[in-house]
Amino acid sequence: MTATVNGAAALVKNELSPLPPGRVPKHVAIIMDGNGRWAKQRGLPRTEGHRQGVENLRRILNASAREGVKILTIYAFSTENWSRPKVEVQMLMRLLEMFIDRELSSLHENGVQIRHIGEMDGVHPRMQKKIREACEFTKNNTRLILNVAFNYGGRKEILQAVKRIVREGIPEDQVTEDLISRYMYTGDLPDPDLIIRTSGELRVSNFLIWQGSYAEYYVTPTFWPDFDDAEFHKALEVYASRHRRFGQTDEQVHNPA
Ligand code: IPE
Ligand code: IPE
Ligand code: MG
Repeated sequence: MTATVNGAAALVKNELSPLPPGRVPKHVAIIMDGNGRWAKQRGLPRTEGHRQGVENLRRILNASAREGVKILTIYAFSTENWSRPKVEVQMLMRLLEMFIDRELSSLHENGVQIRHIGEMDGVHPRMQKKIREACEFTKNNTRLILNVAFNYGGRKEILQAVKRIVREGIPEDQVTEDLISRYMYTGDLPDPDLIIRTSGELRVSNFLIWQGSYAEYYVTPTFWPDFDDAEFHKALEVYASRHRRFGQTDEQVHNPA
């Protein structure tokens, strides 16, 4: 079942087969990739792909809440993306600002808690203020945590954690994996269960390299603007069918001692 027919979204929503109980990933992270190629395929400027990408974010946010996902982490802008042409970077910044302006009240009404992961250094002060205000405004919401990875890099995240640990003089014997996890931007959140990448690229691109150590990966050739509810549901179905062993044998997982 696919949702390729125009206007079929509502139909598909009802037709989607339910996921097996207890098999919905709690934390889903998405590398929203392929906006540029989506636009190129249609003879449109890359910026149009980004515009459609933002539209799609709203769709997948709704789908996540409906499916029972509790935390959605989205890769919106990497520390490496600054090296793109200036006009494209400016457009991406403007789109994110517009997204906050347009969507904040409806996100709030829908119980979405917005968080930011990444560095604020280098981000325009007006944008910094907007992000901080959006996080503050929604901080008590509990239905879905939307974790926005913006000016985010996995190596930068590990580096800032190490620096803080050293600065705070934490003794060596207290530096554990749990402690390092708490010094990541994601601090109190559980690690992602499922990391989705659209557009077919088989790489991590500096995303959640600490937290993703045991995540299930799902890659689809679909470009991000076309990644709809049905595609999202399919990713969750694939996840539900996976056997997560965390180093153990299948027998151990199925017959715990
Ligand atoms: C993802 O789409 C959006 C961002 C990186 C901000 P791309 O812009 O990377 O699209 P492609 O990969 O060039 O098609
Ligand atoms: C990763 O996509 C970053 C985001 C989706 C924000 P890129 O398109 O920047 O990744 P690479 O450069 O192809 O690895
Ligand atoms: Mg890309």
